[in-house]
Amino acid sequence: MELTHFSFNVDDGIAVVLLDRAEEPVNTIGPAIFDDFNTVVERIETDESIKAVVFGSAKRNNFLAGADIRFFDTITEAEEGAAVIRQLHTLFTRIEALHAVHDKPVVMAIDGACLGGGLEFALTGSMRIATDNRKTQLGQPEVQLGILPAGGGTQRLPKLVGIATALDMILTGRPVRPHKARKIGLVDEVVPREVLYEVAKRRASESIGHLGEGGGSSFKSFLAPTHLQDLALEQNPVGRRMLFKKAEEAMLEKTKGLYPAPQRALEAVKIGIEQGNAAGYEAEATFFGELIISPESKALRGIFFASQMKKHATGISSNAEPKQVSKVGVLGGGLMGAGIATVSALKAGATVRIKEVDTNGVEHALRHVSRQIAKQVTRRRMTSFEGEQTMNKVTATTNWSGFENADLVIEAVFESLELKQDLLGQVEDLIEDDVVFASNTSSLPISQIAADARHPERVLGMHYFSPVEKMPLLEVIVTDDTDDRATVTAVEFGKRQGKTVIVVKDGPGFYTTRILVPYLNEAFFLLADGASVEAIDEAMVNWGFPVGPLLLTDEVGIDVGAHIVKIMRDAFGDRIAGPDMMAGLIEDDRKGRKNGRGFYLYNDKGERGSVDDSVYKALGLGPRRVLTETEIHGRIVSAMINEAARCLEEGVLQSSLDGDIGAVMGLGFPPFRGGPFWWVDQVGAANMVAKLDGLTEMYGERFAPAQILRDHAESGKPLR
Ligand code: NAI
Repeated sequence: MELTHFSFNVDDGIAVVLLDRAEEPVNTIGPAIFDDFNTVVERIETDESIKAVVFGSAKRNNFLAGADIRFFDTITEAEEGAAVIRQLHTLFTRIEALHAVHDKPVVMAIDGACLGGGLEFALTGSMRIATDNRKTQLGQPEVQLGILPAGGGTQRLPKLVGIATALDMILTGRPVRPHKARKIGLVDEVVPREVLYEVAKRRASESIGHLGEGGGSSFKSFLAPTHLQDLALEQNPVGRRMLFKKAEEAMLEKTKGLYPAPQRALEAVKIGIEQGNAAGYEAEATFFGELIISPESKALRGIFFASQMKKHATGISSNAEPKQVSKVGVLGGGLMGAGIATVSALKAGATVRIKEVDTNGVEHALRHVSRQIAKQVTRRRMTSFEGEQTMNKVTATTNWSGFENADLVIEAVFESLELKQDLLGQVEDLIEDDVVFASNTSSLPISQIAADARHPERVLGMHYFSPVEKMPLLEVIVTDDTDDRATVTAVEFGKRQGKTVIVVKDGPGFYTTRILVPYLNEAFFLLADGASVEAIDEAMVNWGFPVGPLLLTDEVGIDVGAHIVKIMRDAFGDRIAGPDMMAGLIEDDRKGRKNGRGFYLYNDKGERGSVDDSVYKALGLGPRRVLTETEIHGRIVSAMINEAARCLEEGVLQSSLDGDIGAVMGLGFPPFRGGPFWWVDQVGAANMVAKLDGLTEMYGERFAPAQILRDHAESGKPLR
């Protein structure tokens, strides 16, 4: 038996089959391994000496990470996609039948990623054993790529863990860790990695002679009392109808109907429950074919690939080596500084020294870090011992002690040029010449911060987003003086902090803040033109942004927004100037959520209510009129996209891919639209230019199309 992607050994009647995709770093599933897979199954079916099977992986930390996504891009017709899924169904049904029909129990030995098609494969076994390895996670993340679990996941998962739990996993795409998986009945046992195969073989051997139930059902998981209760509810048609209705409502609330994949996934689950497996599998195949060629899925995959590529990118063209960072100094332990300290210790494993102005600042910073670590312990992502060890890495002070040892200093004090310049000067007195100094400014040009630096070549920006622990993007900003070694040091450290990193050229607002300003300005222009706050925010949410621009201004702080808008106006002049309305708001003591006065009403607890109608008076605006959603999002989005194009044209961005990643991961540009450049390619650069020309005629020069858009409109070449 010739196998390229598996090792196959029979020991004492038990076949141990390990997946090991040739010439690939991780195991994925796709037509490339179907032949091998079928050969394996056939041998098990026919070899009488084989009484039971253990499936596992020869790759470390990786059971089966999911489908071979590159293969998806080769599918151009819906029917082609559906046909591949039908082949996969045949294969998986055969594996399931090894126990149910051939009486050979199948134990899945899971260590590392068991995702998408990987989990669906695992569901075909009679039993699943997972390791307690931190890298072990089980999930159906397909909807995040705009498709549905189509390898039987919408059918077998609900039968194993119940409809409600399965829907939660399938519709959110969130994976579960081993202990949670055990609790919900997804795996039968959790064991240390060292004994995985020993236990798996023992269980396989014990199961010989016990009739397989098929359908991935395991005996033990059905015994948990909560599980029985849920199942009782789910077996009652009225209870079930309610459950599906609730799940659908919750999903639509989140997706606004803009993401077809979760809707189809939910439908497939429902069809399987109501009409049986065969209909369910067929629904999976049909829906997969439809979704795989949808623009939404293509855009989501585009973003996914782009972020994968960024994992290997250094952001420099030379092969300068990064400085190894084991000690980080953080200046300012406020909202951002404390977050930066947290990810530096928790994710990057660095020792962190925070400097604050007084003991209050010190306490606040350390409390923040400690809370974040405690959360990780509660969620069992680390043991309490590991939590303590991590906390011990973080110390804070009100003087400069400890900074002389830093490999990297990140500054996150107030947004004041003088303060930042002054601190850089003081730090330079202390640190070695090769230590990198990064500023987390959100708008001040790095070259100005570095204006008096003794070593401007080691000064750059590391622009994080709030909340630092959650937001995936890091924008590294380099000046003409920044050297490659400093850049690659920041990039590599950012990756260790778990960030997707883009490197951009210095300038007012860099990339993300710069494209945000025309976006916010246009919302103010619309207010001036009579649109209501609700209409503006709703139009943008309905277009796919997580929050509307005016609510965002409340969240960021109206004073902060006004400050940034002013910096941009000083730099770019009228082209980027909004209507002068922020001053009126600030005079009326409106700073947004933080002082409970903004575009919206806030109660004593800081909870947001409806729009504060008195805001129009503060803005000096009269009665509102109705503007269409299309006009609202058309203007706001065009303004943002045009500025992004200018950033590409001026070389602020290294690539359109970076521009898409920055907008999606930093600003919440709708992922299913792929980012500003991907989106322009969708609508066509010529159409985009025509739209901007039209807007220029109506509203003025601020909409004049960037030259690069005209160039692409003419050449017809895509931007991405
Ligand atoms: P914050 O006000 O929460 O924190 C600033 C901290 O710096 C305060 O705790 C203050 O005590 C401390 N500080 C002031 N002077 C200091 C000094 N001389 N030495 C040591 N510590 C000092 O402000 P936040 O929001 O954390 O912002 C910090 C920086 O990050 C600003 O430059 C801001 O523009 C930037 N930023 C903020 C974002 C946000 O969403 N809040 C996003 C990205 C960047």
